[in-house]
Amino acid sequence: MRAWADAVADWSVGHHAGLFANPVGRGGDGPTMRALLDGPAPEEGRPFDAVFADFRDKIIAHSYQCQHPRFWAFVPGAPSFPAVLGDWLCAAADVFAGVWAEAPGPTQVELTVVDWFKQWLGFPADAGGLFTSGGSEANLTALAAARDPVPFADRDRLVMYASAERHWSVDRAAGIIGLRPDQVRPLPVDAEYRLRPEAFRAAVRDDRSAGRLPWLLSANAGSTNTGAVDPLRELAEACRAAGVWLHVDAAYGGPAVLTDEGRALFDSIGDADSVTLDPHKWLAQPFEAGCLLVRDVRRLTDAFALRPDYMEDVAAAGDEVNFCDRGIGLTRRFRSLKVWLSVQLLGVGWFRRLVEHCYGLADYLQATLEQSGEFEILSPRRLSVVCFRHVPLGGPMSEAELERLNRRLMDEQRSGGKAFLSSTRLAGRFALRACFVNWRTSADDVDAVVSSFLI
Ligand SMILES: Cc1ncc(COP(=O)(O)O)c(C=O)c1O
Repeated sequence: MRAWADAVADWSVGHHAGLFANPVGRGGDGPTMRALLDGPAPEEGRPFDAVFADFRDKIIAHSYQCQHPRFWAFVPGAPSFPAVLGDWLCAAADVFAGVWAEAPGPTQVELTVVDWFKQWLGFPADAGGLFTSGGSEANLTALAAARDPVPFADRDRLVMYASAERHWSVDRAAGIIGLRPDQVRPLPVDAEYRLRPEAFRAAVRDDRSAGRLPWLLSANAGSTNTGAVDPLRELAEACRAAGVWLHVDAAYGGPAVLTDEGRALFDSIGDADSVTLDPHKWLAQPFEAGCLLVRDVRRLTDAFALRPDYMEDVAAAGDEVNFCDRGIGLTRRFRSLKVWLSVQLLGVGWFRRLVEHCYGLADYLQATLEQSGEFEILSPRRLSVVCFRHVPLGGPMSEAELERLNRRLMDEQRSGGKAFLSSTRLAGRFALRACFVNWRTSADDVDAVVSSFLI
């Protein structure tokens, strides 16, 4: 055990230290991967060194490191090393974090971390929540809890509203709980990609007069595309007036609330009925660590708690909590441990500085692109996202030519292991996207990536 654990620890430390210098990763096609890795399960165990070499040289060698300082695609993750250790301890302890009776210590840690998040967001003290695998599961859990009390006879008439800029996990969650596509009403955004409250109010009026039941609005606090934050105060007021559940998807943006800039933008987020957070994005945690906060925590237990005979021995008493009663999973990992451990070791200030560091990187990227004169900013920094495209000097190019050029540059950076950016479409135009969440990324990385566009 000691020798194997030492080998794993050595590799982990070396891997983390090496991220500053190594390429961002390497891909691999299907035939290559099958040739390297496919095969029957061995009847007898193989030697550790051989298996570990496979992991190191064949498996991880063919992957991109989201935690690499030049991985800016999608919404990446970049765990602190204390958080990695927390995940390791979680696996080693392998606590069943579903019921209090089996895990009062771990359950209390999850309650405490959920309380920290509630305080950061301004949620009332009697609100509650739980850890999930990620933002998608948190969004699904919120929708299922919000829909639970609606009588079956009315469910056909429910309407869910969501920003045109919502994350697609919201649509998938709506489908899973049984909403038809025509029960999901995308709402237009303004020039800053923020949901327009008057469009929401008008849609509610129209739906009511057509005999439908306005039910839930899913707003963004940090949209995936551009980092846009919807006008939460106005939306909270509009939802209250309309009797509509306000869900806020803060999967990416949540940690911004630790900073003055984020607090101003997230004004009133504590008035939401539910909020999705995703610490494995901007809170420096390994995958998987999502979280859902719900203002009236009984909505979770009403929707999810079941009392089968074989669970009678572990029913929660008094103020004890069985987290399996609050969500989808029965057997649950002790996911909150990594957050607790890293916050204990690093302090909240470290996370605040991480978010501010990422604002600074995004500002620096934008300024560098603007100064070069060879880029167009398609969406300026919002939180830590900037969208842009390379527009070379020397003659106008059509939209299609610009798309081909930018896609080629993005693909070359990725296949060359230099950087990993992703793309999106803004007002129909192809845009490159950079999303900063990584404490390792520096201004030097920004300089290197920008200049690689110009070669
Ligand atoms: C705004 C938003 N919501 C939800 C999700 C889904 O989260 P997860 O990938 O953890 O399931 C994402 C993922 O990028 C996101 O950006």
